[in-house]
Amino acid sequence: MACSSTYRVPSGLGFLGPSKIGQNPLRNKGGVWSRAKYVVSTCAVSSARPASQPRFIQHKKEAFWFYRFLSVVYDHVINPGHWTEDMRDDALEPAELYNNEFKVVDVGGGTGFTTLGIVKHVDNDNVTLLDQSPHQIEKARQKEALKGVSIMEGDAEDLPFSTDTFDRYVSAGSIEYWPDPQRGIKEAYRVVKPGGLACLIGPVHPTFWLSRFFADMWMLFPSEEEYIEWFTKAGFEDVKLKRIGPKWYRGVRRHGLIMGCSVTGVKRASGDSPLQLGPKAEDVEEPVNLLAFLFRFAIGTICASYYVLVPIYMWIKDQVVPKGQPI
Ligand SMILES: C[S@@+](CC[C@H](N)C(=O)[O-])C[C@H]1O[C@@H](n2cnc3c(N)ncnc32)[C@H](O)[C@@H]1O
Repeated sequence: MACSSTYRVPSGLGFLGPSKIGQNPLRNKGGVWSRAKYVVSTCAVSSARPASQPRFIQHKKEAFWFYRFLSVVYDHVINPGHWTEDMRDDALEPAELYNNEFKVVDVGGGTGFTTLGIVKHVDNDNVTLLDQSPHQIEKARQKEALKGVSIMEGDAEDLPFSTDTFDRYVSAGSIEYWPDPQRGIKEAYRVVKPGGLACLIGPVHPTFWLSRFFADMWMLFPSEEEYIEWFTKAGFEDVKLKRIGPKWYRGVRRHGLIMGCSVTGVKRASGDSPLQLGPKAEDVEEPVNLLAFLFRFAIGTICASYYVLVPIYMWIKDQVVPKGQPI
């Protein structure tokens, strides 16, 4: 693996690999500018996908049913533990939402939590939220602050938009359910205008054995290198990765994080991605074996519940271990 870069540690979140630190100006609708450090990685490696990572919920059908139930409590359970407002705003900084007239799409937008961060900077009429779960988007439709946002059902791997449509593509916490993440990122490239930018926020793979076991049983927790490779292969340039995580983790990444990094890339030329792919990995029209489906769904959901406990465990550690010491 060839990497060229300098090494710096992003504040508060630890550091894994080669990077450069840059400055990212961001302005909200009120015109206030802030600056943030971000990591630039220039590495690209391929990594195998061993059979020991069954990822029982990394299928569109399981994800559909998973969110059929999770949507009821999503805003009250997931966000406080894994995806807080300050994390969201930190993760959106690399998206450079500095123009309120930008056309922005939020893919896998769910109940609209990330969209709420986007409409702080961009006029609601210019924002589109797309998600495959009717139950999730119904919650988004009920949010007053999202009035004017165009909300629709659709598949991240097959976006219902013309090529070169959006100034910004955002997707937060959805890639882990895409059976073919490279295809979703290729779609991100296609729908972004030349000069536009895609920002994908997602989990990172755990290094601690027990967390790794449950993560791999549940869904896709990519490595940082995989994100960079998918973006680069899709045709994006200036690919950067910024680490994020709840404050009370104190930078710990060994358990993996459901929201662990924000990856961005710029599209320079107009048109589709240069990457050629075969047919989609999952055909949702194809009939499934009900027993196999129920088995995968039950095991995947049980493994997912481990990740309800991890943030609570980390929060308790943060309360108990004296400040300034590693946890
Ligand atoms: C963890 S939620 C994230 C929701 C939202 N982005 C947020 O920040 O809270 C993941 C979302 O991805 C959606 N999703 C999963 N697979 C998808 C696909 N192939 N196409 C579109 N949405 C998908 C799910 O329905 C769910 O709403």
